[in-house]
Amino acid sequence: MKPEVTNYEVHQKSWWRKLFTVKDIDRLQADAEESPLRRSLNFFDLTAIGIGAIIGTGIFVLTGIAAAKNAGPAVVVSFVVSGIAAGTAAVSYSEMACMIPVAGSAYTYTYATMGELVGWIIGWDLILEYLVGAATVSVGWSGYFKMFFKSAFKVDMSDKWTEAPVGFNSKTQSFYVSGNYVNLPAIAISLGITCLLCLGIRESARLNTVIVIVKIVVILLFIFACIKDIDPKNYTPFIPPNEGSFSEYGVSGMFSAATTVFFSYIGFDAISTAAQESKNPQRDLPIGICSSLLICTVLYIAVCFIMTGVVPYKELNVSAPISVVIARTGMSWLGIIVDFGALLGLTSVILVLLMGQPRIFYAMAKDGLFPAVAAKIHPRFKTPWVTTLISGTACAVLGGILPVDVLGEMTSVGTLFAFALVNIGIIILRFKRPDLPRKFKVPLGPFVIPVIGAGLSILLICTATVSTIIRLFAWMGIGLLIYIFYGRTHSKINNPHLSPNERCHVNKDEI
Ligand code: ALA
Repeated sequence: MKPEVTNYEVHQKSWWRKLFTVKDIDRLQADAEESPLRRSLNFFDLTAIGIGAIIGTGIFVLTGIAAAKNAGPAVVVSFVVSGIAAGTAAVSYSEMACMIPVAGSAYTYTYATMGELVGWIIGWDLILEYLVGAATVSVGWSGYFKMFFKSAFKVDMSDKWTEAPVGFNSKTQSFYVSGNYVNLPAIAISLGITCLLCLGIRESARLNTVIVIVKIVVILLFIFACIKDIDPKNYTPFIPPNEGSFSEYGVSGMFSAATTVFFSYIGFDAISTAAQESKNPQRDLPIGICSSLLICTVLYIAVCFIMTGVVPYKELNVSAPISVVIARTGMSWLGIIVDFGALLGLTSVILVLLMGQPRIFYAMAKDGLFPAVAAKIHPRFKTPWVTTLISGTACAVLGGILPVDVLGEMTSVGTLFAFALVNIGIIILRFKRPDLPRKFKVPLGPFVIPVIGAGLSILLICTATVSTIIRLFAWMGIGLLIYIFYGRTHSKINNPHLSPNERCHVNKDEI
């Protein structure tokens, strides 16, 4: 153990050094060992949590949009590229998660490796992954809800109440008024899940496993039922020629699509938030993270191949592309099953994401970076109800008014940014704390995979649309202002009036 930092030393620190104060890893590890949570999850449960959070809007909705607007049939390659970016982050997360097996995920890892300012930036950035991610999935849910009612009950819901009032023109990079009122199903599912979460519905590993099995069966059914309807003509040209703007087809469009479909891989990091509930985190977290990602990658590539093979890619710019593909094959029975499976699967993704967001707000509030009210736990339900309500309401508003592609791309760039920093964190920790026991190490040394991962993540951010990058910077700018005017002055780690124990609060899961 490193010697404690005394209050006098904290007092003497310059403001500049304070920005880079790191959380004490030894203390985090010691507290993780005394976790009050029941350690009941094995690697199978962890893999199921990963798949439960990973398979969702990305494959059920965004694949079609990315193929139609950016990549054509080459969307398969886009999936491979973004799968590599996600895979490198997955092994880095695995090393971090088994070294620092506490809840808080990338926020805690960066706080412990690069200091408070970078920790804050990641915490703020994770809002894009979890909150905006949940909003994206709610819009996907709405599309399948509409489709399900149409295929099962022949009820056609009006676009006015099921589509966003705001659209985005990727050619002119500008928003326009679509003429619709609001996406009511998206709002309803976000608010419904928020209520459940406030009342204390927790991720039940068993229920999650059932949903995961349904999702996988539905996807396999789709693959095997539609494979015979592939028309090889639809694969030519495999990479359609660029149509002028960066993101419209060609190799650049293929990379742009990789940023969009990267959304499909988001969620495996949710496994790391279950670190303290895992029976053997050092062994099972890496297995869970890597195997869930591998299984999903294989399924995704197969689905893309079928989708773009059965229907010409230009026709896939719809909110439920898999249903369109099935409709083309004439198997209406399969349509009903797939729509229902997708609805169930998307619900579990929203649940996991909306459960993760308040935990991150909670962790940041415990460290003093957000007002203490954000760490309030409901006396009866034992849930972080204030942050759950705030997150759920914000999610409902975003999902109610914005289109899925804008939300999805914003989530992707935000998550890529977090993944880049986790990769860099691995390199830093190998040099700063070579003494820490690592049951799982990123293969090929501290550089190869983290450098490829960070580089690829940054490359994918750069290939996002200009407006998305501007929005990412704007979001980060707002975050920095909040840190400068609130977080920096209220942070506990730099408060000389607190004891070392109070300064390095560990985010023990009381929630
Ligand atoms: N990967 C998750 C999805 O595609 C977030 O919905």
